[in-house]
Amino acid sequence: MRSLPEIQRQLLDPDRSWRVPLTPTGSACTLPPFLRVFEHWSIRLFRPLDAVSREQSILHKTLLAALLTLIAGCSTVEPPEWRTLHPESDFGHLILNVYGDLFWWTAGIFVVVELLLVYALLRFRSRRTDSEVPEQVHGFTALEIGWTLLPAAILFFIAIPTVRTIFQLQGPPPGGDPLEITVIGHQWWWEFQYPELGIVTANELHVPVGRTANLALSSADVIHSFWVPQLGGKRDLNPGSENRLWFTPTKTGVYHGQCAELCGTSHANMRMRVFVDDSATFAEWTTSMREPATPDSAGAMAFQMSGCAACHAIAGTPAQGKVGPNLTNVGRRTTLAASMIPNTPEKMADWLRAPDSVKPGALMPDLNLDEQRIRDLVQFLEGLR
Ligand code: CUA
Repeated sequence: MRSLPEIQRQLLDPDRSWRVPLTPTGSACTLPPFLRVFEHWSIRLFRPLDAVSREQSILHKTLLAALLTLIAGCSTVEPPEWRTLHPESDFGHLILNVYGDLFWWTAGIFVVVELLLVYALLRFRSRRTDSEVPEQVHGFTALEIGWTLLPAAILFFIAIPTVRTIFQLQGPPPGGDPLEITVIGHQWWWEFQYPELGIVTANELHVPVGRTANLALSSADVIHSFWVPQLGGKRDLNPGSENRLWFTPTKTGVYHGQCAELCGTSHANMRMRVFVDDSATFAEWTTSMREPATPDSAGAMAFQMSGCAACHAIAGTPAQGKVGPNLTNVGRRTTLAASMIPNTPEKMADWLRAPDSVKPGALMPDLNLDEQRIRDLVQFLEGLR
């Protein structure tokens, strides 16, 4: 095991190869320039821990912990679609507007308070010529009423746009003809049903751009939370009751989502993708989902014989299981295992071989499939498109 000073030296090595621009997850602050300044100072501040006094060592460890905490919020792998501060839906913009307003109001309050503070520090500072203790004042009723009423008034003004937006977002979807979608949370994947279209799918939601998606959220087991930072959420999926959430996507693209309520072992691996399609692409997708290609019967037989069909459904085949994700057209999906791994034959084989090692706690059992059976199943499933 490497010693702390050794790890520290490596971390602070200005030439280290992984020093690439960092993107913070969940926010869009311009961290890279800031981080470079921080890094510059930390390299000056930190000397190896074994070459400093005890006090300096405590300071250095504290600063190192702060630096590591900061870096923990960053990632070089998460795609930019995680940016909460760049919404691509009406829902996201409504929330960002409240956030933006409050930010500038509080920035104004901060400036006023700091100016008053600096004025008081300069104006009433102790001078060499002062010979007496200044007059001691206490019990200034007007001042006490003032500093009670002023924060109350500020909170009141903050409450107005906040409450208005809450009512707006909890209300019915704007505009007519929303696309109704039922979202059911499962440990640890997402079920998407389109009741009007007769489509059931999993983990990759397709919605048309410019049309409001009206989601009915519930859960099959424990509490989950729907959260697609650029589009909508967070809103809980509760077993036994229904929550609603609507959003109107404003830009085509792929948006990443994540369960936002601790729901068990693989909570962090309960991800999803939302594809905001133009109307032609969405129409093509719905057609392909409603009229899936007839799968080859040998593969369908292997699927049936291996026990997969007990949990999974595939439209157009005898497989009608309801416990696991619906696999109709699974070959068209970009990811597997709730957006954990890319949908490639190799990754699908890994998943079938040992689900638990891809996704800890996965409820899909290890069926002890032999390699030939895995190859047959991969060929069959990847061909469903
Ligand atoms: Cu589902 Cu966390």
